[in-house]
Amino acid sequence: MATCGNPNAPAVKFERLPTFAEPTHYDVRLSPCLNQFSFEGLSTVDVTIKEATDVLKVHAQSLLIQSVSLVANPGDAPKKCDTSYDDKLNILSIKLPSVVQPQKVQLIFQFVGELNDKMRGFYRSQYKDKSGSEKFLASTQFESTYARYAFPCFDEPIYKATFDITLEVENHLTALSNMNVVSETPSTDGKRKIVKFATTPKMSSYLVAFAVGELEYISAQTKSGVEMRVYTVPGKKEQGQYSLDLSVKCIDWYNEWFDIPYPLPKCDLIAIPDFSMGAMENWGLVTYREIALLVDPGVTSTRQKSRVALVVAHELAHLWFGNLVTMKWWTDLWLKEGFASFMEYMFVGANCPEFKIWLHFLNDELASGMSLDGLRNSHPIEVEIDNPNELDEIYDSITYAKSNSVNRMLCYYLSEPVFQKGLRLYLKKFQYSNAVTQDLWTALSEASGQNVNELMSGWTQQMGFPVLNVSQRQDGNNRILTVQQRRFISDGGEDPKNSLWQVPITVSVGSSPNDVKARFLLKERQQEFVVEGVAPGEWVKLNSGTTGFYRVEYSDEMLTAMLPDIASRKMPVLDRFGLINDLSALLNTGRVSIAQFVQVAASSANEDEYVVWGAIDEGMSKLLMCAREMSDDTLKSAKQLVIKMFEKTGAELGFAEQSGEDSQKMMLRALVQARLARAGHQPTIEKFNQLFNDFLEKGTPIHPDIRLATFGVVARCGGKEGFDKLMNLRETTTFQEIERQAMIAMSQTPEQPLLAQLFEYGFEKNKVRPQDQLYLFVGTGSTHMGQQYAWKYFCEHIKEFLEKYGGANSSLFQRCLKFAGESFGSEQRAVEFQDYFCNCKELNDTDRQTLARPIGQTVEAIRLNARLLESNRSVIETLLKQSNL
Ligand code: BES
Ligand code: ZN
Repeated sequence: MATCGNPNAPAVKFERLPTFAEPTHYDVRLSPCLNQFSFEGLSTVDVTIKEATDVLKVHAQSLLIQSVSLVANPGDAPKKCDTSYDDKLNILSIKLPSVVQPQKVQLIFQFVGELNDKMRGFYRSQYKDKSGSEKFLASTQFESTYARYAFPCFDEPIYKATFDITLEVENHLTALSNMNVVSETPSTDGKRKIVKFATTPKMSSYLVAFAVGELEYISAQTKSGVEMRVYTVPGKKEQGQYSLDLSVKCIDWYNEWFDIPYPLPKCDLIAIPDFSMGAMENWGLVTYREIALLVDPGVTSTRQKSRVALVVAHELAHLWFGNLVTMKWWTDLWLKEGFASFMEYMFVGANCPEFKIWLHFLNDELASGMSLDGLRNSHPIEVEIDNPNELDEIYDSITYAKSNSVNRMLCYYLSEPVFQKGLRLYLKKFQYSNAVTQDLWTALSEASGQNVNELMSGWTQQMGFPVLNVSQRQDGNNRILTVQQRRFISDGGEDPKNSLWQVPITVSVGSSPNDVKARFLLKERQQEFVVEGVAPGEWVKLNSGTTGFYRVEYSDEMLTAMLPDIASRKMPVLDRFGLINDLSALLNTGRVSIAQFVQVAASSANEDEYVVWGAIDEGMSKLLMCAREMSDDTLKSAKQLVIKMFEKTGAELGFAEQSGEDSQKMMLRALVQARLARAGHQPTIEKFNQLFNDFLEKGTPIHPDIRLATFGVVARCGGKEGFDKLMNLRETTTFQEIERQAMIAMSQTPEQPLLAQLFEYGFEKNKVRPQDQLYLFVGTGSTHMGQQYAWKYFCEHIKEFLEKYGGANSSLFQRCLKFAGESFGSEQRAVEFQDYFCNCKELNDTDRQTLARPIGQTVEAIRLNARLLESNRSVIETLLKQSNL
């Protein structure tokens, strides 16, 4: 990891709450004021004291505590207590009037808080109403450690309690919380109403939620009788129809799959205009970014619609995985995130076949998990968490994508019914309680009769994953495979730890490519396996269906044997993807050259699947990236090579949707045409420009799936005029996906004054919501100018970034940091990037500690780009010379 700052500075010692006291029930009353951005609070907490003590400790942050009193025995008059506050740990210590023996007591807190604009705790969100005037609503984001911003609490997941929430709000506002309303009464002055909600089940503090504002909703009921609603700001409720329908189906489907009915009488899904994450699984009141919940059938792209389906299903899966059964501590965060991520695909796969979601799984989950986990600065799935205030960076592709992929691997290994049986056992046993990873393995072992702990601990406790080297020999009708495992590290170097995994291996063969011919479990560094009944010359492939979380490196002979069936598409699509994605990843290790990759890609000339083209495209973009660094001539030739490879498919696909196509075709069209346009293919560029102009001038709609590609061409080739048109579009649209796409496109402009204008508009004039500002960085990596501009801008404005996003711990801040650097490709830049953070005066040692991993990962990514270039310079020159361009 990047180490800088003062190595001798003592790390801030973190402290958990003492375990001798536990909350059992909270009664929380809050009166938010949307005009003054503040709230008043009164809460009573029932606490069980288990060891004699004269002090109690609770979390509180950014609250003005007006008084704390103790009721030692029912009926006693409350006694005021002195308090002291530790602002590093956010712990309020309450000095009790005398030593209290083990018993039940009540604490009463009176406090005032702020409705902040940092998208955490109880915060305000801003939007414009129909007449264009500014409005506010208030809502919450408590995970991981922000419930303490709203009321004093035992803010660790282990402390489950029941909650009675009461909100006092202005009469015209809607007030929501986890549970249904049980009473609504006027306040004493009649100006406000007091809305009381039913008692929640036992749950962790990070799952409590409220929302207050001028809201509208649509509703429906599940078969099991749960009232489902989608809430939005005024004017948008119709866009919630898709999610509402899906969520109704989803609750019923999970009721059955988990064999535990959803225990609350209602579940609201609400779209919040300012929201730092994608969505949050508060029990009974799930909050979403607008873009993650709302769909406009003619405007939303297929990809975005499928994302909405996944996000809806993800959060609802948490109602079981996370809410009903919760991790004991954040180290086991993956227990909820990894499983909600897996279940989202299970649900969408079974209920929305039109998305072909398991194809996308490969790129979006498996490949993205491997891409991060291939770095030396990765971390194990079960990751040590000391200070949970600094754990936002753990909500990453390891916790989500790798965990998800490892779950899929295990599900295939055990079979779905066995896997499901184990999960049901686990959920029943730990419902309304907390668990650790070992508890899950025990349940799965019980269901399967296998030692799941032994199999799985290598995957969750070690970072990284293996690459298998395979070679073969024929013996009569048998194929003998020699398989060796070592940790896959993207830089191709040695594993300092000598890690070893238990790897479930599946094998398929040329004569029946859709079946699993043999299964093995690789436990040693190297083993031989015999596959019976394989003819000489027949290809043999490992990792059938790309279900395993590992890569495979074949001998030349084995790889060559597969090429004809890749070309003819006799090999199944999941395998074609896996093979090409493995090769593309091996490029950086230096073990596969770009020339070899191009050879395999060229045999995919007849490829017709979007995801496989995606893998090819990714490899080709590596070639282009290297060529750009070499010389203008080299870049020109590389672009010609790309045109040669993509032109035929582009011509066949055209631009218009054909009737009877599946959902993947339009995405494929966008991908191929966009690549041709980027490579400078003039007819394609003209066609894109025409689409855009016809849209602006004649109102001819652009198909949502090719909209981003179109905007991109306009931004890259359309000069100031194109840029202004996109800006105008962004200003006038009310639809968040179009806003986002216009921004991503504009950030690709090759003209610095325009980029400067965009950054000023977004960051300084604050015309872009803080939650979306990172999209201004996304496209900058596509030009040298953009790269340098973005990095310089980040450095010069780091203070504002830190302030705006709420500190170094904020994931929005960390994502900007990564985007600002990761497309560089030289050792000098790697050093510059690292040094900047070491010397930056706006950061303290704790910040540097928090940022060590994201910085380390970005530095590593920059070095990988540099390495790719160095190991392929001469290969690329020869390749381009030989390609007859
Ligand atoms: N529990 C998370 C939200 C969250 C993330 C809270 C990080 C605090 C810190 C939620 O269930 C989640 O995973 N949301 C994802 C979307 C999901 C579809 C992967 C997100 O927000 O990106
Ligand atoms: Zn989640």
